[in-house]
Amino acid sequence: MAETSRYFGPLLAERHDFAAASTVCDVGGGNGALLADILTAHPHLRGVLLDLPSVVEGAPAVLDRAGMGDRCEIVAGDFFTEVPAGCDRYVLKSVLHDWDDESCVRLLGTIRAAMPDGARILVLEAVVPDSGVPHPTHAFDLLMLVLTGAGRERTAREWASLFDRAGLRVDKTLDLAVLVVQELAPQE
Ligand SMILES: C[S@@+](CC[C@H](N)C(=O)[O-])C[C@H]1O[C@@H](n2cnc3c(N)ncnc32)[C@H](O)[C@@H]1O
Repeated sequence: MAETSRYFGPLLAERHDFAAASTVCDVGGGNGALLADILTAHPHLRGVLLDLPSVVEGAPAVLDRAGMGDRCEIVAGDFFTEVPAGCDRYVLKSVLHDWDDESCVRLLGTIRAAMPDGARILVLEAVVPDSGVPHPTHAFDLLMLVLTGAGRERTAREWASLFDRAGLRVDKTLDLAVLVVQELAPQE
């Protein structure tokens, strides 16, 4: 996962418009590699990294090596219970595909409760084609089933239905080749 973040971090930093944001929280952000790339590319931003205690143990070394240690707060916690409030962007990369629909709705609801007006959730996940044509995402789907038991890849329709259940809507999408960034805003 860390290796894929080294690929998608610079891409997201370049292709998403972070100009109006001041704080970015990476929810389930692992060792902070993706956040370090975003902060490096956008010197006006501060970061918040949230992951489980055993995982964030490795984050100071990664963030310090990137020279971003003093611009990033590290939070050890459970994203089903609480996420840091008041951030402008909440990044969720390759997290929701680990979970069943109920758990995803719970996690998205926790973020929704923490996000201020104007904030956005950036979901980076594969999108399975609706048509059932041969596509690599079908193999990812099988992999998630085997690895997690409850996780799965989803079609655009399935993602939209999940977001709707959490009171969110897709505001914009950004295609990063293998993954798609779905930018979520609260429903009116
Ligand atoms: C598939 S990994 C994705 C990591 C990172 N976003 C990336 O793309 O490289 C899922 C992440 O969710 C974290 N995670 C799982 N359950 C969690 C929980 N209850 N609270 C916080 N983080 C959790 C894991 O520790 C892991 O870092």
